[in-house]
Amino acid sequence: MMRTAVLFVTTAALLAACSAGSEGGAEKAEVPPPPPLTETQKAAVFQALPAPWAGADLENGRRAAARCRSCHTFTPGGPNMTGPNLHGVFGRRAGGKDGYNYSPALKSAGFAWDGERLDHWLENPKQFLPGNKMSFAGVPDPTDRRDLVAWLMVETAPPPAG
Ligand code: HEC
Repeated sequence: MMRTAVLFVTTAALLAACSAGSEGGAEKAEVPPPPPLTETQKAAVFQALPAPWAGADLENGRRAAARCRSCHTFTPGGPNMTGPNLHGVFGRRAGGKDGYNYSPALKSAGFAWDGERLDHWLENPKQFLPGNKMSFAGVPDPTDRRDLVAWLMVETAPPPAG
């Protein structure tokens, strides 16, 4: 008898805690992040990449991205760290990720990121946009950059429309 009562109370308390938790979460994240792409969806994004990123070596790109991971996350809803979360960065206004405190240089850059701009930025961030606060020397090798940008295009792609 006693044991049943205790179990019931525990279950009720757990249920209450759960629903309180999910309400709190909904308040914080105004737009819930999209689910990550499936491997099939990623393969489709890769197939559709234009030159010079078509056919890039994604494995080499993934390895090159290790140089970014101390400051950036790539997944949907991933946290901003020293640098902003980069999910959805292609097509987004430079300095446009909500909730990240950009330098004035990046905030007023006045363009949207595409493959070519990302390539130049990663070649030499300081030179590409003087006054920005990304302390990163750059990726000097053009093939590494091509593979890295292709990997970023696949990994940070938004869910397909429809
Ligand atoms: C030492 C930390 C650090 C490393 C390493 C780093 N970044 Fe950054 N990144 C930053 C910071 C800080 C900013 C914001 C710069 C600003 O506001 O001026 C930034 C900004 C960016 C932006 C602009 C984002 C936007 O929303 O406009 C891109 C794209 C980017 N980084 C890509 C990369 C990639 C790709 C790598 C790896 C090759 C990399 N970064 C390595 C710190 C870093």
